[in-house]
Amino acid sequence: MKQFQTALDGYSLVTAQSISEHARSTVNNFTIDQTKEGEAELALILSLTQQAFETNAPVHGIMKALTERLQTLKNKVTPLTWTHLAALAQMHPVSSYLLQDPLTRWSFEKPRGYSGDAQLLDFIYEHPAVASQVKEASPLGTEIYDFTRQAASAVAVRERRDLLAGHVDAVASEKPNAEVLAIAAGHLREAERSDAFKSGKLGRWVALDQDPISVGSVSSAFHGSCIEAVNGSVRTILGRAQKLGTFDFIYAAGLYDYLAESVAVKLTERCLQMLKPGGKFLLANFAQDIGVEGYMETFMNWPLIWRTDRDVQSIVDKVKHPIADSTVTRGENGGVIYAMLTV
Ligand SMILES: C[S@@+](CC[C@H](N)C(=O)[O-])C[C@H]1O[C@@H](n2cnc3c(N)ncnc32)[C@H](O)[C@@H]1O
Repeated sequence: MKQFQTALDGYSLVTAQSISEHARSTVNNFTIDQTKEGEAELALILSLTQQAFETNAPVHGIMKALTERLQTLKNKVTPLTWTHLAALAQMHPVSSYLLQDPLTRWSFEKPRGYSGDAQLLDFIYEHPAVASQVKEASPLGTEIYDFTRQAASAVAVRERRDLLAGHVDAVASEKPNAEVLAIAAGHLREAERSDAFKSGKLGRWVALDQDPISVGSVSSAFHGSCIEAVNGSVRTILGRAQKLGTFDFIYAAGLYDYLAESVAVKLTERCLQMLKPGGKFLLANFAQDIGVEGYMETFMNWPLIWRTDRDVQSIVDKVKHPIADSTVTRGENGGVIYAMLTV
């Protein structure tokens, strides 16, 4: 598959290597015994999965067992041992079955050169933009996709998109011509679900992303509307290199999962500075207990910084900017944690 080059800004840990270096820097207790035990357990899990595929066992059951077993193993070992095991899993022949799923394959191959690009999200959104690739999948790949697109992480991401649209609509109903900024906007799919956008109630909606391909897609999809697609990054925001103006609502979804805490705190402070009085900032982060990290980090090669509610609260607590009100909550699915800050 063709690889596009995106100039990564070095602030977000969007490559498997950068995130594993992050894991290595935080925990360093790699014991030989644990490694050997983990390797043996992983080998068993993967050979049972392979046998199940070979004997045409029901796919939903195979995927459920694999996901749960990988999760149990991940929870048992240190982050460093897990990084080692994940690399072994990726080399196992069972991956030839799993990579028939278009979602697993796109995530694993990373055609844009980094994890979590907007097209990957389109497979999760079940968006028409990827319908032809979904249609081309083998019958087995289609069945595996039926499982992965219903995984807790995927359900939480679709819920997140709908919640974002709801927040934009709520801000628009309070403020005529509201100005909104989406950081790491991807394809801005939430705009397709916003009534305020469709009825022309917004002043402007700036969609900023580091990936020029995604910026180009937003620019052509929403040409002639109040949506402005901007190529920029955490680095350009923190360095004040772009004059974006001020906003009633700023949000970042699918970004904090790649930011070390120190960068997350700095970015939050900068976003609060860009708000108008009474404005709101929302950040979203995948929750640590979502239960599918094991599969995502192995066969999807999609490691993230999974956070607890306390970790998200810790980012908020470290912010040195006046905050009038703050809440840390979860959506109905519970897989994403949201911090909403009002200045
Ligand atoms: C998982 S997608 C989320 C897209 C969108 N917010 C959504 O929820 O569908 C992550 C996006 O973050 C962007 N991104 C990652 N690191 C970034 C950075 N340092 N600065 C700006 N954008 C970044 C990627 O290009 C990608 O579009």
